[in-house]
Amino acid sequence: MANELTLGVCYYPEHWPEHMWADDAKRVADIGISRVRIGEFAWSRIEPEQGNLQWEWLDRAMDTLGSENLQVILGTPTATPPKWLVDAHPDILAYDEQGQPRKFGSRRHYCFSSLTYRRETTRICKLMAERYAAHPALFAWQTDNEYGCHDTTRSWSPEATKAFRLWLKEKFRNDIAALNKAWGTVFWSQEYTDFSQIDLPNMTVTEATPAHMLDFYRFSSDQVVSFNKLQCDILRAASPGKAIIHNFMGIYTGFDHFKVSRDLDIASWDSYPLGFLDVAPFPVEDKHTYLRQGHPDFTSFHHDLYRACGKNGRWWVMEQQPGPVNWAHHNPAPLPGMVRTWSWEAFAHGAETVSYFRWRQAPFAQEQFHAGLNLVNNEPAPATLEAREVSAEIAKLGQTPVTATASIALVFSYEAKWLFDIQPQGASWSYWELVLTWYGAARRLGLDVDIIPPDADLSAYSIVLVPSLPILPDGFIKRLQSTDAHIVLGPRTGSKTRNVQVPPSLAPGDLQTVLPLKILHSESLREDISIRGQLDGREVKAGKWLDHVQTEIVPAAVMEDGTGLLFHHANMSFFTTVPDGSFILKTLIQLCTDKRIPADILPEHVRIRRRGDVVFAFNYGPDGATIPKNIRSADGALVFGSWELPPAGTACWRIK
Ligand code: GAL
Repeated sequence: MANELTLGVCYYPEHWPEHMWADDAKRVADIGISRVRIGEFAWSRIEPEQGNLQWEWLDRAMDTLGSENLQVILGTPTATPPKWLVDAHPDILAYDEQGQPRKFGSRRHYCFSSLTYRRETTRICKLMAERYAAHPALFAWQTDNEYGCHDTTRSWSPEATKAFRLWLKEKFRNDIAALNKAWGTVFWSQEYTDFSQIDLPNMTVTEATPAHMLDFYRFSSDQVVSFNKLQCDILRAASPGKAIIHNFMGIYTGFDHFKVSRDLDIASWDSYPLGFLDVAPFPVEDKHTYLRQGHPDFTSFHHDLYRACGKNGRWWVMEQQPGPVNWAHHNPAPLPGMVRTWSWEAFAHGAETVSYFRWRQAPFAQEQFHAGLNLVNNEPAPATLEAREVSAEIAKLGQTPVTATASIALVFSYEAKWLFDIQPQGASWSYWELVLTWYGAARRLGLDVDIIPPDADLSAYSIVLVPSLPILPDGFIKRLQSTDAHIVLGPRTGSKTRNVQVPPSLAPGDLQTVLPLKILHSESLREDISIRGQLDGREVKAGKWLDHVQTEIVPAAVMEDGTGLLFHHANMSFFTTVPDGSFILKTLIQLCTDKRIPADILPEHVRIRRRGDVVFAFNYGPDGATIPKNIRSADGALVFGSWELPPAGTACWRIK
């Protein structure tokens, strides 16, 4: 199987006088861009008043793009319910955690649970689908825009309260005693006698019951799933065979993206490497080193995550940062060459399309500082040249194989993130940090990684990394036993039941049936406290968490007082602490040696990625770097770039 790689751009015809559209379309095509996403915020122009439908301008916009053979991805406009709709039906509004309704005046002000909003969504999606299903320029649909953006998955509204009660009734089969038992409501006299008494877990004096919180998080995630499905069903019925896509975000975990994706054909995400570097919890040294490049592992982690979400691994970048953004704390410009390198990093990880956000910088409203491919005055911005370069390189490369299954998998769990947010137990505990450190170590060793959901089959892999999985999903232990893979289990794995209780057999719960050790007590530690241990006679460091176990297994890594930090048993390794980066690297090198997986430490800021017989190398460092000899092929096989990578450089070659 092979793919034609394509470029796209996000375009807002409603922002520009109509006389500019034809020239815009021509210039888009001239760059080598073949796909254009439009429409996702245009409700007030499509329907300025209830029932007054103004499709003609959108018809003309679609026709204009189509006349240049551009393929349109049409967004449903539900991320921005217009003013008349909010005024007529205030019950569509989401409420913040303080119990205040969100106001009109930006976007994403709707509540996923509002029945009125679901009715209005059905109406506008049906109308749009009927009008454009057969339009020759329509290539695919985008549902809504960035579910959860601006932290809007959870709504504390009266509508959400009603829906949550129904969700609980179904979950507990109308048995309030079962809920009381599951949540442990006897604690602090929190018992209920009827589902109608249950509120959302906000504005409590101190923390609410963890099981109540986790169920609210699960419910809120399910509301996104069903809201998206509502749209997908309508679009699919009106235009069978047309792909349905949603654009997810980076570092956002408010809902389970694996579950939402089940109704989509293609997963996509919006990649803003410099914005994310600034807002994500990276050490300050990394923020300096990668200021204009973005973190070398953060973007690719998301590429791998969304490849796992897409049906048959199909995924895109729907919005690619083209220059400074407007929304981080600080918004630097990328190094020259970086837009090209980001584009290739996405393709290297299997993307079918990379689409730049946005065609032209907006002179008005919230995002005036956000770069585009063109300046406000319509002169090309630097990213246009880089997009052109990518387009020429795509032509050189030709058909590109699809991404093969990696030998290493990393289990990523949205539920784990929710549980740790609800009950962190230690301020320095960070699920993101744990996940990214494992992922980063594998990438530093030049390994390709598949991110997989907790319920995934493990049989295709040689090594499976489970940074932490507090609630073991059904069948996990069976899957663990029926693979030859070596499984690395991080601290707190198996430490809770589905209802956030301590397992009756103690942590790690049912894992004890295959891993004979039991955790008697756990400590969380300050960020600045280091745990020192020995592994094969060499010092290793860890911190943040420490489980004290009872077991006959002799620990592989120990503290001076004999406390075990790492245990091996059968095809498993179990950490009782959070290993630091070099401890993780040592462990991974050993595992790769055992499994005969070639793994060599790459130059610090260089990353590589294979896509079938095509290999890519990227330099995220501030200085030039050399691609190590052992991963090159004969010089003649370079498709583009060179073995000496300049800063922000990319090279691509084919292997036999
Ligand atoms: C995304 C969003 C776009 C735009 C962009 C700016 O989150 O989908 O509409 O706001 O960010 O970087």
